[in-house]
Amino acid sequence: MKIKGTWYRSIRETGDGAIAIIDQRWLPHELRWVSLSTADQAAQAIAEMWTRGAPLLGVVGAYGLCFALRQEASDAALTTAYDRLLATRPTAVNLRWALDQIRQGVSFLPEAERAAQALAIVRALCEEEVETNQAIGRHGLELIKNLAAAKPGNEPVNILTHCNAGWLATVDWGTALAPIYMAHDAGIPVHVYVDETRPRNQGASLTAWELANHGVPFTLVVDNAGGHLMQHGLVDMCIVGTDRVTASGDVCNKIGTYLKALAAHDNGVPFYVALPYTTVDWTIHDGLTEIPIEQRSDAEITHLWGKTATGEVLPVQITLDGVATGNYGFDVTPGRLVTGLITERGLVSATAEGLATLYGQRTVRDSP
Ligand code: MRU
Repeated sequence: MKIKGTWYRSIRETGDGAIAIIDQRWLPHELRWVSLSTADQAAQAIAEMWTRGAPLLGVVGAYGLCFALRQEASDAALTTAYDRLLATRPTAVNLRWALDQIRQGVSFLPEAERAAQALAIVRALCEEEVETNQAIGRHGLELIKNLAAAKPGNEPVNILTHCNAGWLATVDWGTALAPIYMAHDAGIPVHVYVDETRPRNQGASLTAWELANHGVPFTLVVDNAGGHLMQHGLVDMCIVGTDRVTASGDVCNKIGTYLKALAAHDNGVPFYVALPYTTVDWTIHDGLTEIPIEQRSDAEITHLWGKTATGEVLPVQITLDGVATGNYGFDVTPGRLVTGLITERGLVSATAEGLATLYGQRTVRDSP
């Protein structure tokens, strides 16, 4: 997507056997690209939040496995690197899915052919990822068009989103933001309420930055404002992304998503979740008990990163020393609170039956 008129992807090969990714910890203050060329670097970038967002985690992890195979392609080396990369971020299932694509795609090959095949697979995953997000965007666009048609005059469709499910969280376009970009580009007036998304502020730092660069009108609000906005009729629809959807349609996403869904339900505001098929975990049904919820460091809560008056980007402590914290990274929204899942194959209910209409009856996680 665009930064000051130039089209970018969030990840690219640099031609020297490495990839460049955006170190998202520095946004919105600095656009820093970093180079990764080993599995350890990829694991560090994922674990330390240089890179994030479920689909992008999958792609970076898959490149990490390619780098590992380039070093050593034995079964043992493959397993070690797979396990190391998988352990970095337990909640987003796209990471496991992408690592599985590489492992399944190379393990039957002679060692000498594995690294090249792994690279071919990850390149194809990147291209497919972009097409998938564009398809999600087209399906979501129809929903926005319908809401716009029902509005008087040229009033914008007001959309609330949480966290960052834009192009920074994917290879390009994003999931929740793809329909918004397409609506804006099609001349449909849209306005986005961006939740700041404590503790890491992905909304304030990333979504707001993306929308500003693309020219989409938005208002940044604190996390607790959503209920108030919805009570006052200021939100026409919510669209969020997700890190894992169960085979029954429960949705795991950034902490705070569930509260937005409750407020939306209470106020009759449609609540949509945008996702690619790689985010569905066909092995589980009960989101509340079966999805591992990451617990992040105390420092994310006790400190805030920001730019000082002299232009330095640094953390400041906002709590007493040594306070007890509980930093739950994600929560689960039961499918009954979700109006619909916007997938690359179309819109469906957040139920086992809904998912089955698009992907067939599945008992194991797999590609459709
Ligand atoms: O902890 P993060 O920043 O990786 O969490 C990201 C989210 O929760 C996103 O909403 C989700 O991954 C969907 S990204 C298309």
